[in-house]
Order: sequence, then structure tokens, then C-alpha cells
Amino acid sequence: MKVLYVTSEAAPFAKSGGLGDVAGSLPEALNSRGAATRVIMPLYACIGDEWRSQMTFIEHFYVTLGWRKQYCGIFMLKKGKTVYYFVDNEYYFKRERLYGHFDDGERFAFFSRAVAEAVARLEWRPDVLSCNDWQTALVPIYMRDMYSYTELGAIKTVFTIHNIEYQGRYSRAILGDVLGLPEGWYNDGTLEYREDISLMKGAMLTADYVTTVSPTYAEELKYPYFAYGLDGVVRSISGKFRGILNGIDTEYYDPATDADIVANYSADDMAGKAACKAELQRMLGLAIEPDTPLVACVGRLVAHKGMDLVLARMDALMSLGVQFVVLGTGEHGYEQFFRVAQQRYGGRVAACITFSEQLAHKIYAGADMFLMPSQKEPCGLSQMIAMRYGTIPVVRETGGLKDSVPPYGAEGGRGFTFANYNADEMVNAVWRGAELYRSSREDWNKLVKWDMDANFGWSESALEYRRLYASLTGKQ
Ligand code: GLC
Repeated sequence: MKVLYVTSEAAPFAKSGGLGDVAGSLPEALNSRGAATRVIMPLYACIGDEWRSQMTFIEHFYVTLGWRKQYCGIFMLKKGKTVYYFVDNEYYFKRERLYGHFDDGERFAFFSRAVAEAVARLEWRPDVLSCNDWQTALVPIYMRDMYSYTELGAIKTVFTIHNIEYQGRYSRAILGDVLGLPEGWYNDGTLEYREDISLMKGAMLTADYVTTVSPTYAEELKYPYFAYGLDGVVRSISGKFRGILNGIDTEYYDPATDADIVANYSADDMAGKAACKAELQRMLGLAIEPDTPLVACVGRLVAHKGMDLVLARMDALMSLGVQFVVLGTGEHGYEQFFRVAQQRYGGRVAACITFSEQLAHKIYAGADMFLMPSQKEPCGLSQMIAMRYGTIPVVRETGGLKDSVPPYGAEGGRGFTFANYNADEMVNAVWRGAELYRSSREDWNKLVKWDMDANFGWSESALEYRRLYASLTGKQ
């Protein structure tokens, strides 16, 4: 079986969030498990010479987009077992950020159309196109529109929802002019969404199978609270929809070999973790207190990550006698709040309002608890990374957080959890963690070891994707 994994980002080439991590590790895991998988993504300006010098040019052609004819070059590179194709067009992709441009709809329509065209030209013909999020949502639609009655019509499409909040919603006016699609796609309801078009809705209806990134999120999406208007669509496709929990790259995230942390350690030899904590406290200007529980929050500072709960009870959290570090950027109000908190709680709160992969590793290693009070969390990878580094998650029971962090006290418990989106419940969960840390270091260390030994790699989930692809194509 041959799978072309279609994505708008993949680590280490270009990454803005969890999708980049998944696309940077799942294809390699599939290749190791017998599903020949290649990746196709845009050739962004941020992809540096260290990679470009390894690429070979394959071919170029022109892509039709409404009345436009746009150049498209295809480059190729092999990393590990995985072949990557890069779609080159400097007008669309030679820009500073990956997303957030006025013409994102056109940029990713171009990318999706280019993928469909490339599939027809490449010598390597995939059996499955595995697409991700709204940026690639047009791929299954174009495949239907362009190739239904050709031999390429046999190619199956899978669409994975990493976050249903971002749907690619545009004015109907772009349907013919930019997307180059006939009105029928709107009139029959496939793309229609509140008099606009929703690319994600279109992909959910046209793909042969739809997945999302955790079983609990798949359930949650049947309800309006989680589905941003698409709960009806989710319910209507229940026969071709399920959740498969993401994994993490356990080689890259490994405290035993991580070069970004001051001392390496493993579940069997934990000495290095204490050194990492002391170094982190020193670096961040926190009091160097080995016995004070250090709580970390790493991620985008936006509402659905649960930041309002932290804001509402910052004083209560600090009254638990913990230290607190936050790393991330996001909404201005949250950023300012944490800057002020750092001044109010000198030596106890550190606000790192930036994004730094290296600092993130130092925090995963140096902290004791990892707080993720998300309102919604399709999967979440940070809690798994934290556990791999022996940092105990404190999470709300939603989406992938619920699937990966059973509550401490129950069988196999891995962290401190709370059910409702409620700030007092969150404080209570942090309190339970801090209590265990202080009252029984032996039990705490057992929990740390249990979490570090958990298997959050791709082994199970990659096989599940493989089984899914096999059931769709009839090929092994
Ligand atoms: C999105 C989701 C996150 C998930 C990631 C990878 O960023 O918000 O929960 O872990 O995609 O699937």
C-alpha cells in the first residue's frame, strides 16, 4: 500500500503547532510498519539551505486556479525512511509566517490543487491521500471534481481533523473565482455553511474516511459545544468517522539523550532531573528550592487552552506554595497578565512570553507538574511529552487529555485531573498534586516512573492508521 500524507506543515522543516509534530513523526512510523508513506507539503521560505541543498528538482507544471495559471515546482528529499515532496511557488510560500495572510484561502487552494495535479503526474502513484486540517481539505474535493471517472478515481482519501475550530471558512464568492469549482458544490450543500463555504465541511463529506486525533474528541464532536457548527455533519458521517490517538516522537523527546537539557536521566536513574530543575530555577530567576513543586504551562496563550481559569485563580494557585513558569505567546491580555504576575511574585513566577523549542525542553525536564486546563483539546501532545520527562500532568478531562491521562488514584492513573471547566476544580487538582509531592516523595517518585515508562510512541496508532488504509484500499 502506498500513502501520500498531505500536510501544510511537518517538523523539522516547518512547524507552527501539534500538526507539525504529527506530520513529522507519523509517516516515518508508518514506513517502519510496512505502509510505504511519502509526505507532500509547501516549500516555505523558512525551510533553510541545510534542507534545500539536499533536495532534487523533479518537475514543474502549471496549476489552474479559476482564471489563474500558477507555476508549481516539485522538489524531493529523503529523510530517514520517508520521502518528502515540496511544492514550490514563491508567490504563495516565500513569506515570513506559515499562516495568517490575507489570501490563505487562495494559497492553500493552490497547494491542494497542486497535490491533485502532482498525483496524476508522479511516477509513484499513491493508493491513499491522507489529508490534514482545512489547509488540505480541498484535496478530497478536487479528487472528486477532477478525477472521479478516471483511473485516479480509485485513490482513496482520508481526512484528519486536528482542530475543528479552524475550518477554512470563506465567502461563497471565491468558489469559482479562486477555487475553480462549479456552483453545484455549494448548491448541493457539500461546501455550504451559513451562506459561506466551509472547506472542512466539504472534506468531511467527500473523503472516504474521516479521523480525528483522539477517541474522546471524536465523541465530543457530536455536540455543539465542541463542533463549531459541524456537530450535525459529524453525526451524519458516524459510519466513516473515528478517533485515533496521536503519538509522539519518543526518540526526539527522550530525557536520556536530549542535548537541550543540562543533565540526562531516565526512569531508572533520576538524578539528572533534580539538576535540570535547579538549572531551570536559576535560569528563570526563581528561588532555587529543590522541595518546592514547580508547575509549568507551555503552549499558546489562547482561550481554548484554559487560560481564563489560570487568570481567575492565579492568587489561589500561588497560595499553594508552588512556583509557576509559563512559556508561550498568544493573546495580548494573557501575555500582559503573566508579565505582571512575574513582578508581583518575584522569584516564584517566571513569564517567558516567547516561543523557544529549547526552553520548552528545559521546562519539560525541570518542572514537577505540567498544567493543561484546556477548555477543548483535540489531542494535545505536551502532556505526553511532559510524562516522558517525568513531569506529572494536571489536566482537564477533555479530548486527548482524557485519553492519555487517567486520574491518579484510579487504576493506571498518571496525573491529576478535573472534569468541569471550573477554576476551583483546577486549583483543587494542582493542590492534590502539590500535596502528594510534599507528603510522600516515595509515592510521587513511583508516579513519575510510571509516567516515564508509559508508551506514548506511535506503535499502536500507526498500526491503526495502517489498518484503516488497508480496509479502504484492500491492499496491505
Ligand atoms: C491541534 C490540536 C491539538 C493536537 C494537534 C495534533 O494542534 O489543537 O490538540 O494535539 O493538533 O493533532
